[in-house]
Amino acid sequence: MATPELPDIASLRPDFIWGVSTSSFQIEGATQEGGRGPSVWDVYGHTDELKNRDSGDVACDHYHRYPEDVALMKALGVQAYRFSVAWPRVLPQGRGSANEAGLAFYDRLLDELLAAGIEPWLCLYHWDLPQALEDSGGWLNRESVAWFTDYTTLVAGRYGDRVKRFATFNEPSIFSLFSRSLGQKGRSAEDDLHRMIHHVNLAHGAAVDVLRDKVRNVSIGCIHNYQPCRPSSDRAADAVAAAHLSTYWNNAFPDPQCLGEYPAAMRSAVAPHVEADDLARICRPLDWFGLNHYSPVYVAAKPGALLGYDFGNKPSGCALTPIGWPIEPAAFADTLRIVHARYALPVYVMENGYGDAMQPDETGAVIDSGRMAFLRAYIEAMNAAAADGVDIRGYFIWSLLDNFEWDSGYSKRFGLTYIDYASQRRIPKASFDWYARLIRAARQP
Ligand code: BG6
Repeated sequence: MATPELPDIASLRPDFIWGVSTSSFQIEGATQEGGRGPSVWDVYGHTDELKNRDSGDVACDHYHRYPEDVALMKALGVQAYRFSVAWPRVLPQGRGSANEAGLAFYDRLLDELLAAGIEPWLCLYHWDLPQALEDSGGWLNRESVAWFTDYTTLVAGRYGDRVKRFATFNEPSIFSLFSRSLGQKGRSAEDDLHRMIHHVNLAHGAAVDVLRDKVRNVSIGCIHNYQPCRPSSDRAADAVAAAHLSTYWNNAFPDPQCLGEYPAAMRSAVAPHVEADDLARICRPLDWFGLNHYSPVYVAAKPGALLGYDFGNKPSGCALTPIGWPIEPAAFADTLRIVHARYALPVYVMENGYGDAMQPDETGAVIDSGRMAFLRAYIEAMNAAAADGVDIRGYFIWSLLDNFEWDSGYSKRFGLTYIDYASQRRIPKASFDWYARLIRAARQP
């Protein structure tokens, strides 16, 4: 397959921001260095539930190799880099004494980024909850709102001089829906889910207030995984299950955060956890909507399961990435139109990308034509949505580096850069050069 042409981006704004995204636990490694405490992923990551028994212990060793990774970003030409702070690195017990060595790591990273002319976009929470807080009930404990407020105060105070773009959470619906703490010790998983959703929403609102107060000229959003939930057959039960899942997957967080109310379909279930004034505390003014989008989700009814659903068959003949995710750029354009119409905020695409398992060829190169074709089609879909008037201001690829892909360990690769985990050698893939060319072309006056 020949290298795909660059996409048509004529409808994107002249000040459009091109970036890449990563997250702390997926790349940093050094989980036991510099005074870091354990996160829930350190504990879960040492169970045999993970693919190949992979763990995040070393990951991309970014903790030590960040100068090389910033140099890669500079070569790529990105204007912005979205990363997350590991809560247990800066507060090993989740609360209480801060860890100066951990705080200093992000100082070094930020200084390196700013020296390279790359704007840091800091996400406060990308799933690595300190284990000590999980042991105290985690997000099921309403105290978590205070823990997150204090953590945000620390991060805002330390980095707010250099960071102006903050995201409160990455994909709150995903880490809630798939949380392993739901329904433990005989509790109802469904009730736990509602409790968790509400506490995370409250923590979001509290963090927005802290950031506004502490950081001059701050620009704040929350990053949502928003995917059309489609029935996997024409059975009525599957359509009901898909609509129900969509309420939770897509709307349970942005609706109260941006519109001030829970979706009608879940209002009575969440009500027992909602206290007076809570909705006003959640719905704080935001500057942008962060969208992560990969593909639609196909849903089948499964009575008795949490929210009564399971993942169902994808339509026969639908194009798939090598890891089995549907390739449907039109669904991306639709999603952009939907979130912009519903939430009336400028949209930044904070994740979009393509997973495979591709290894270097005999010459040592990684010619990832599938990824380039995917990115081209998705960027053109975004351009089409912009042409329709959707206010899209930036696009960040997941991810700069192949990394620890959660339950899949290192078996899935989303990077523009290949990581040889044995040597930690970084090999920019063909898509890296292609994206660099696109950014150069886009930024030409
Ligand atoms: C997003 C997450 O859901 O998708 C990333 O924010 C993640 O952290 C990415 O790595 C790819 O998904 P997965 O499930 O293959 O790791």
